[in-house]
Amino acid sequence: LFCRPCSFFFAAQRLDQLPPPALPEIAFCGRSNVGKSSLINALTGQKSLARVSNTPGRTKQLNFFDLGGRLTLVDMPGYGYAQASKSVKEDWQGLMFDFLRGRPTLRRIILLLDARVETKASDRAAMKLLTDAAVTFQIVLTKSDDVKPDRLRSRQEEAASLTRQYTAAHPLIVTTSSETGDGLPLLKAEIAALAEA
Ligand code: GTP
Ligand code: MG
Repeated sequence: LFCRPCSFFFAAQRLDQLPPPALPEIAFCGRSNVGKSSLINALTGQKSLARVSNTPGRTKQLNFFDLGGRLTLVDMPGYGYAQASKSVKEDWQGLMFDFLRGRPTLRRIILLLDARVETKASDRAAMKLLTDAAVTFQIVLTKSDDVKPDRLRSRQEEAASLTRQYTAAHPLIVTTSSETGDGLPLLKAEIAALAEA
């Protein structure tokens, strides 16, 4: 699946602008700057597909990417971006969670957590919201290249405890790095299986 070309085909700022539900979709969500766009680029092997930036709040829309006519990857705006104005935050979060709860073609939500830092209140709020709505999500740790092994282990244990606490969490946690490619084969296999299911 990931040998096929991937291309951007749609951006939505509001829910009434979504492309009609068609192919199975995988959505990437998480805090601003956690590495969602980078992970999409790393998975597809296309460095400048999704826009990446040091500045949090880079992705401001739902961006849809077609993967070989088989699957749609959805890059989402980040949550928890402290500098955004209140109304901008509410717009993003409303769009994001309405999409995550109500999209019939959504096969899985990948919820990214930065392996370098503790889980934040906004991450817990997102996991609670998804659990309350009974929408399954999978935790993926990002930036494993930038953490010492001991710390990485404690972050993996913390993530495992989150999967027990939030019942909508998929039990498998994947640790990744978009820089080194760590964990990408496993994540690709998981996603490819969803495309076939
Ligand atoms: P928003 O669109 O603002 O929500 O951010 P995002 O989650 O899409 O993050 P993005 O992919 O733009 O990456 C944010 C920053 O993290 C960039 O400076 C990336 O280069 C860096 N980054 C992303 N993935 C990795 C990784 O695996 N390792 C390291 N060391 N840095 C990474
Ligand atoms: Mg982004």
